[in-house]
Amino acid sequence: MIESSIIPQAITTISELTSALAESERTTFGKILRSLDLPLDELRAKGIWSQDHYTRNCIFENENFELILLCWEAGQATPVHDHGGEECWVYFVDGNFKETIFTENGEGKLVPSKVTNVTTGDLTYMIDSMGYHDLQNVDKTRSMSIHLYANPIPRCNALNKITGELEERELSFDSRM
Ligand code: SIN
Repeated sequence: MIESSIIPQAITTISELTSALAESERTTFGKILRSLDLPLDELRAKGIWSQDHYTRNCIFENENFELILLCWEAGQATPVHDHGGEECWVYFVDGNFKETIFTENGEGKLVPSKVTNVTTGDLTYMIDSMGYHDLQNVDKTRSMSIHLYANPIPRCNALNKITGELEERELSFDSRM
């Protein structure tokens, strides 16, 4: 296991990132992501974008964690969702985003409890005990974020905007890098 004192000051390649995560305890995952200094052009070239939805591009997965590059067109957003009981770190690689956290009110309805504007270089953390969240690319251009889930999340509960009900959703990848 890598001790946090020997995590490189700056992680500049995807392979350095996956090795550091694979060799570390999850208590150091936040510190590792904060050390990221990845070349944006390289990441942009590896990601794919869709006009229909943000895309999920798998960088690496094993039984302990999955690392995903999300590529967002302007305005694209996630549904309100939980994280299947797992931990979630989001490192904002490039762009401006809004995160809204939702908690249940007395009637069991999900209501916004916190809105945060996040930007390039910020790191956020979520776990189901904090509630549900959604993320939106509020930039006028394409944006990218790196999501780390420990353990991997094959499915989550997401709010169906039409019915207003939570429903289980399978999570899939649009590409593997
Ligand atoms: C996703 O992984 O598709 C949703 C984004 C997140 O929960 O961080």
